[in-house]
Amino acid sequence: MGHDKLRKFAENETFSCLLQPDASLVLDKSGDPSGGLRLHDHPIKGRWNGTMFAQDQPIVLELGCGKGEYTIDLSKRVPGRNYIGVDIKGARLWRGAKTATEERLPNVAFLRTRIEFIEAFFGPGEVSEIWLTFSDPQLKSENSRLTSPLFLERYRKFLKPGGIIHLKTDSRFLHEYSKAVAIENGLTILAATTDLYHEATAEVSLRSTSASRTPPPASPAVPPLTCPRVGTVAGGTLPTVAGPELFEVQTFYERMFLSQGYKITYLAFTIDHDGPYKHPYSFDSDYWRSIEGPRRFSHSPSSTQR
Ligand SMILES: C[S@@+](CC[C@H](N)C(=O)[O-])C[C@H]1O[C@@H](n2cnc3c(N)ncnc32)[C@H](O)[C@@H]1O
Repeated sequence: MGHDKLRKFAENETFSCLLQPDASLVLDKSGDPSGGLRLHDHPIKGRWNGTMFAQDQPIVLELGCGKGEYTIDLSKRVPGRNYIGVDIKGARLWRGAKTATEERLPNVAFLRTRIEFIEAFFGPGEVSEIWLTFSDPQLKSENSRLTSPLFLERYRKFLKPGGIIHLKTDSRFLHEYSKAVAIENGLTILAATTDLYHEATAEVSLRSTSASRTPPPASPAVPPLTCPRVGTVAGGTLPTVAGPELFEVQTFYERMFLSQGYKITYLAFTIDHDGPYKHPYSFDSDYWRSIEGPRRFSHSPSSTQR
């Protein structure tokens, strides 16, 4: 391991805003007979307000936060909410935790864990909103996608009713997949656009058949994002989906993909749903994988090395 990483890991130990629990604290090694994960609750579950944060305020998560650009920026824009960036990579979290420490941001915390363990850390209704920023599209492994039915089941255990999930990604594959999951399960899509910075209207792409190889038509089922840069949905009847941060905050990966000419997509939806989440049977994964195209830089490997 490089000297720089070692230095960051050592400094990570000194940040009071960074929680780095050992996996053995939450993961029951005896496993689940059904093949799932058996988890123990972490002591902070249900107690972030009051333990990590002095102010009792709504909690917002950024999952796969990397260096935590959204977490840091949102915490400054909206002091009335508490923000937690979650990632497995300690060297990336170091950046966010260092900024939060140096700037004495009272409403920021970071959690170093696999997102697969997330329900061990948050109690029912403890989280108000989730941001997924440039998540790995996981082209081959559906259950590893952060918007798969498996992950939505996890989020449902701690997200408040009506809590919004924001997905900002360069990956058209992940955008369409997530939209298909939302449609298949009758979830409320609040906003969807396949070109955040250039399209004035949003679209919903509902692929009802996998036979066709042409992109699906836009549907009026979803209200467009009000553009430019207001961040509320048209008509004024739905709640504000996102503020100007949607356009104004760019993460490390977002800047990289923009510089390579990729369009940035955005999807906002709620996960209110009874019963198990269904797999999106109408999603044509071969088609969307084929238009994903070669990337000059891949997303970070799915490995969970530090
Ligand atoms: C493509 S990067 C995006 C980072 C940041 N959001 C950005 O936009 O710059 C994906 C991030 O998700 C993290 N990640 C991927 N799978 C994860 C998992 N299962 N648990 C925790 N973190 C994960 C990676 O460590 C990486 O930092």
